[in-house]
Amino acid sequence: MSNSVQSLEKEISRRRTFAIISHPDAGKTTLTERILHAGGAIQMAGSVRAKREQRRTRSDWMNIEKDRGISVVTSVMTFEYGGCIFNLLDTPGHEDFSEDTYRTLTAVDAAVMVIDAAKGIEARTRKLFEICRLRDIPIVTFINKMDREAQDPFDLLHEVASALALETTPLTWPVGRAAKFLGTYDLRKDSMRLKEEVVDNDERILQMQEEVELAKVGLPEFNLDDFNAGFLTPVFFGSAIKELGVADLLDALAEFGPSPRNQPSQERQVAANEASMTALVFKIQANMDPNHRDRIAFARICSGRLERGMKLKHTRTGKTFALHTPQFFFARDRQLAEEAFAGDVVGIPNHGTLRIGDTLTEGEDLQFTGVPYFAPEILRRVNLKDAMKAKKLKQALTELAEEGVVQLFKPQDGSAPIVGVVGVLQLDVLQTRLKHEYGVDITFDNISFSQARWVQGDKLTIERFINSNRSAIADDIDGDPVFLSTSDFMMQRAVDANKELSFHDIKQIGIGVTS
Ligand code: G4P
Repeated sequence: MSNSVQSLEKEISRRRTFAIISHPDAGKTTLTERILHAGGAIQMAGSVRAKREQRRTRSDWMNIEKDRGISVVTSVMTFEYGGCIFNLLDTPGHEDFSEDTYRTLTAVDAAVMVIDAAKGIEARTRKLFEICRLRDIPIVTFINKMDREAQDPFDLLHEVASALALETTPLTWPVGRAAKFLGTYDLRKDSMRLKEEVVDNDERILQMQEEVELAKVGLPEFNLDDFNAGFLTPVFFGSAIKELGVADLLDALAEFGPSPRNQPSQERQVAANEASMTALVFKIQANMDPNHRDRIAFARICSGRLERGMKLKHTRTGKTFALHTPQFFFARDRQLAEEAFAGDVVGIPNHGTLRIGDTLTEGEDLQFTGVPYFAPEILRRVNLKDAMKAKKLKQALTELAEEGVVQLFKPQDGSAPIVGVVGVLQLDVLQTRLKHEYGVDITFDNISFSQARWVQGDKLTIERFINSNRSAIADDIDGDPVFLSTSDFMMQRAVDANKELSFHDIKQIGIGVTS
């Protein structure tokens, strides 16, 4: 093996790219802070909390979005720990922006699922978990808030296993409970990390030893292949706020937390250690810096090594461009990325050529698959105040839809465009950005449609269906037909009456629709 191949493999195998998923209040922000602290990126820790505080109320949120600098800070947090380079991808805290979270999950190799030890699995944990499962993303579980009244560890493990249909293997065990929580015992290393010294016959140690015996007999052993395949989750207990159990988690991620995975594409599986660079755009953010009107595409490098100045092929359009200014985002600064490796995330400034789901290569025709769009839960018609601005509105809506702010549907009957969102705050963002960035004033009209499904079938059958339902058909941003309906009941009626067609609530780039 040549030196360069060896060093490429070495760099890639030490990348750990992950996200933290949780139900609000389970402790994601606190754990993020403590992870950054343990990873030596202390100066950032305060800003994570500041952001959360500001996001709490709606008006503050709008301010923060105007001040793009702050969301940049935490888009990707990079630090070194245990000989590995960790890239922690931030996901929006607010449920209304869950689409952004789902897309970010397509750019990670693992997710840490934070569970509140008193509450167990909650609604949003389950939803986010399902998205991970869609892509077989390995999950590491962190049971948080062990310093408070908590459920019994065996009950918690059982709940994770049964609620998520996942094998659960504890790799640490809590020593003491609630106010007397002392730290953790490592089941594999037979060692303890405690916040204070205790005598051997301390009742908490004795209780732990008894429980660990039971756990070793009754619970499945850790199996790396099952973890990598997404069948098994290793479980860690801790208290983020007291920074207990956090080092156990990071040590495990460094030890076995997956290095960059193969990425599925329409053409083939792309292995991370291939020499040729490939990347997938999973997020677009516009006007991050009010001083430069720009648009940054966040791309995850899927294979090889990226080098500043290299020529890249944008496979959707077939165009080639030179990568002059790829950037890393550290703390409050951007920094030119001279080189980066599979697993890393770089920001690519552009003027609207790149959109979510795009693939970049050194020349090969590839389309990475799997970036999801979810059928929106709220549909509104866009009402333009000044008819002279129709053309501008059209361009603005297309650009903002490409960024993933909203989904855009063009009704086939020629009526005004419809936007679809998962959370109402997305509508506020759309309205504000149209006004501030494009000078277009709009309002939203309620419409009778409340459901949207992508329709699939053979060409003739689809054409027939479209012709007889034209007022309920719209084209999405790629021109794929979407059937709109006024209620669950009406949707089901259409499904039952058109057995030769299929109706889907998820569309995955490069794969098409699924449900
Ligand atoms: P989130 O990002 O998942 O929404 O959760 P976040 O970290 O903001 O934590 C939610 C609340 O739970 C916070 O309290 C936080 O301090 C607390 N918390 C997080 N981890 C632990 C833990 O290990 N033990 C205990 N006892 N509490 C924990 P808050 O009162 O809502 O906010 P704050 O006043 O602390 O800022």
